[in-house]
Amino acid sequence: MKKTINFLFFLLLSSPLFAQLPIYADVTKPIDARVEDALSQMTLEEKVAVCHAQSKFSTSGVPRLGIPEIWMSDGPHGVREEIEWNSWDPAGWSNDRSTAFPALTCLAASFNPAMAELYGVAVGEEARFRKKDILLGPGVNIYRTPLNGRNFEYLGEDPFLSATMVVPYIKGVQSNGVAACVKHFALNNQEDHRDNINVEVSDRALFEIYLPAFKAAVTKGGAWSIMGSYNQLRGQHCCHNDFLLNQVLKKDWGFDGVVVSDWGGAHIPMQAAMNGLDIEMGSYTNGKVSGSKFTYDDYNLAQPFLDALKKGQVPMSVLDDKVRRILRLNMRTNMSANRPFGRYGCDSHSAAARKIGSEGIVLLKNVGNLLPIVPGSAKKIAVIGENATRNLMQGGGSSELKVKYVVSPLEGLTNVYGKEAVTYSQGYSSGSPNYDRETNTKLNADSLIAAAVESAKTADVVIYVGGLNKNHFQDCEGADRKSFDMPFGQDKLINALLAVNKKLVVVLMSGNAVAMPWVDQVPALVQGWYLGSETGNALADVLSGAVNPSGKLPFSFPKKLADNAAASFGMISYPGDGVNQKYLEDILVGYRWFDTKKIVPQFAFGHGLSYTTFVYGKPASDQKTYDKDASIKVTLTLKNSGLRDGAEVVQLYASQVKPSVMRPVKELKAFQKVFLKAGETKNVDLTVAAKDLAFYDEVSKGWKLEAGKYVLSTAASSADVKGSITIEIN
Ligand code: BGC
Repeated sequence: MKKTINFLFFLLLSSPLFAQLPIYADVTKPIDARVEDALSQMTLEEKVAVCHAQSKFSTSGVPRLGIPEIWMSDGPHGVREEIEWNSWDPAGWSNDRSTAFPALTCLAASFNPAMAELYGVAVGEEARFRKKDILLGPGVNIYRTPLNGRNFEYLGEDPFLSATMVVPYIKGVQSNGVAACVKHFALNNQEDHRDNINVEVSDRALFEIYLPAFKAAVTKGGAWSIMGSYNQLRGQHCCHNDFLLNQVLKKDWGFDGVVVSDWGGAHIPMQAAMNGLDIEMGSYTNGKVSGSKFTYDDYNLAQPFLDALKKGQVPMSVLDDKVRRILRLNMRTNMSANRPFGRYGCDSHSAAARKIGSEGIVLLKNVGNLLPIVPGSAKKIAVIGENATRNLMQGGGSSELKVKYVVSPLEGLTNVYGKEAVTYSQGYSSGSPNYDRETNTKLNADSLIAAAVESAKTADVVIYVGGLNKNHFQDCEGADRKSFDMPFGQDKLINALLAVNKKLVVVLMSGNAVAMPWVDQVPALVQGWYLGSETGNALADVLSGAVNPSGKLPFSFPKKLADNAAASFGMISYPGDGVNQKYLEDILVGYRWFDTKKIVPQFAFGHGLSYTTFVYGKPASDQKTYDKDASIKVTLTLKNSGLRDGAEVVQLYASQVKPSVMRPVKELKAFQKVFLKAGETKNVDLTVAAKDLAFYDEVSKGWKLEAGKYVLSTAASSADVKGSITIEIN
């Protein structure tokens, strides 16, 4: 296909008609030459015009030269519905119903980079078909607190996991000639006070915990764009933060793409001009908080930028650098000859969504093998809970999707178990989907509980589908959760169900951990995330045993909020005092905190059960000592000792034996998802680069690998170490 297209272009370009084709439009020329040529033909005003929005989701391009507008869309779980040119109202198109893919927490839980690639290719194809040049995602902010309303859009608490998963997603998206826009750079780890909160964090925590996924996105994923975050770091907003953008991103990491502001995230014209921002996007016509005249001229990178350039306050080279980056993005996307055409709402995307969903679902608990519920084994299945029927693509903020279809859990389960077997009772009510106000439910909670209990009483098994949803103060942009508890009286409801039926499967749909006061009484517990269009099918696949669960938690579930590192330091740590916040737990985020402080989590990072069992062989390394540039190879055997085919995520954690600085008890350095037939044994190879055992040294301001002993542990979760070896770095 690619060859044919190139040939057609060649024919076209060799025709006399195109003899005068300018270099920038000549797709056979190298990108840099095209960029320089386009730049040389643009006026000052045209250059400034491409640096800011012309509508909610587009920039103007250069009409005179035929350089296309750049069109963007959220991201990251599908392509967002079209909205009006200059308001947030839906545009009312009838062709913008997309496939909803599982939330990124679910993708992370698959611990399978092949799923990230499948995801990226598919969502990129949808974006391409919808004529988008930039897809606003993926998000890789680190899971610091279970209250963050947007955790569901990110890849969990561990820098290695998120860095590993983000790369194939980006490559997949960009294989469609659509730029991924990695967000939100950086430290947008909460929604409360997100617009201005000033984060104080050590360099060490920054480089060890909060930046690795962004770095991998740039240096390994080759991301063509990145989005600055709303918050501030060390007194400067991240959309124009000199240290983050000019120093770290562009200089140290060699990023050659475009920095896009979060919508309305730029505040100070001179900083917007000088500190590394390339395209300013906004929520209103003044780029900030209100609608002025319909021109977008008030943006920091519009008229004020032009004026500063004319007065010589901003060097032309700064403008040219921005425009080069933007033109490069054009050449990579809407001016590329190698761009495929995309696909939309097709069966292969549904299949991808279902596969990713069923691979990411995590079986947290399964006492007495209550699961799987094999079709035909239960005469009456009581499905209870609002999330069994709720459209969880609605609400949540910018990731909201207008979907082509959604298979609800109730539909999925009914398809598998049959109408005769399945009954449904709502159990609780949370009000209509929205993401900017709190809803009051009008339904009487007690009567809903009574009806659910009645239905549970006579059932062979109860499948409860609850958790959070995408309403304000839930898993939703713009505000954090107010409480770690499950909302809408669900704890009371679950206890009431347990009182009448012990055969209870609890399925939580959420992007966050919740308090589980009933956890010891509930025999089977499943973390079902948000699964997109194929929710019901993916869930039914796992509950019925058609798919053997293999997901692992991408973040720790604390027993109580106070066990969470950020929460344990009080208000100044989270959510801050309204002006500042200090990341006092420093590098001890997630399991690093639980391990080091010896706090037992409810469910550990990396935990996830299967319907089969695995036996880990003893690990061995290929050598005993390594030099600093070596690759350390750890091998072990893994046996599926049960009766079903299944997959296990073998994790490798590293600890330094006598570090000169405090280090976490252990840190994830490699993992592999291994698929095994029942009874099968495989050799598993895990590789760690010795240099990845380094820590960030605050004194020398760089990575430091100390000579000495390191323990490498194979594990089924951060709390379930199976074997260890000690190696030495020279
Ligand atoms: C969000 C971004 C999103 C943008 C455009 C912002 O409020 O933080 O993630 O891409 O809006 O919708």
